[in-house]
Amino acid sequence: MRTFLIAGNWKMNAGPTDAGKLAKEITSKWAGKTFSSEALLCPPYISIPAVQQAFDGTGFQTGAQNVYIEDDGAFTGEISTSMIKDAGCTYVIIGHSERREYFSESDEFIASKTKKTIDSGLKAILCVGEVLEERKSGNQEKVVEKQVNAVLNHLSADASDHFVIAYEPVWAIGTGETASPEQAQEMHKFIRSLVEKSWGKAKADGVRILYGGSMKPGNAKELLGQPDVDGGLIGGASLDADSYSKILEISESI
Ligand code: PGA
Repeated sequence: MRTFLIAGNWKMNAGPTDAGKLAKEITSKWAGKTFSSEALLCPPYISIPAVQQAFDGTGFQTGAQNVYIEDDGAFTGEISTSMIKDAGCTYVIIGHSERREYFSESDEFIASKTKKTIDSGLKAILCVGEVLEERKSGNQEKVVEKQVNAVLNHLSADASDHFVIAYEPVWAIGTGETASPEQAQEMHKFIRSLVEKSWGKAKADGVRILYGGSMKPGNAKELLGQPDVDGGLIGGASLDADSYSKILEISESI
């Protein structure tokens, strides 16, 4: 049986007070119940301790939305892997399309961050995905292949247990548009074939590939029901305790 990873990306929403409240709201829905999926929420850095505190003893995990490649020193505004670990996080989202677009993060920089994250014992969620024009012109696989291989080339097969890929078609992020389950499955299968080329079938089968882009309770069952969809990276819907919880519940029913 697969274990889904249901990851919420709160982006630049919810300071410590609101994040703590939202985290408690989510956990209260699961009080006395267990789940077999991995449940992860990634608040802004500053809200991590509040969420971590609310999650204590509940089975919910916290993650960061970004990281820097150095351990410490004169890098104003940055946060290191050791700080993220110290705060109790288990995962780091890397190379989200908003970071690629607004902060000009290159494939090389994203590859360094992924390697640093995995080397430090944290798990990396590498985000990849094409923009609308690339899909319209039929170049989506070419684009995703370049993004995935740029990172795979820097990692060894040993990294596979700590490596998750999130396929997030940029045209589906925050737009209400979702990739159809068929489109998602097709791309996930393609991504898995790229991992297989680098690391072989056994490792490729074990790497989780999440779908992201307007996932919500209404479409989660169909998306998570695809054979190569191993979870979700959920933005907007993860800011609502009911919606996030519902998606987690759906993952338990598959
Ligand atoms: P969305 O965001 O669910 O709001 O589309 C997903 C993401 O950007 O990770």
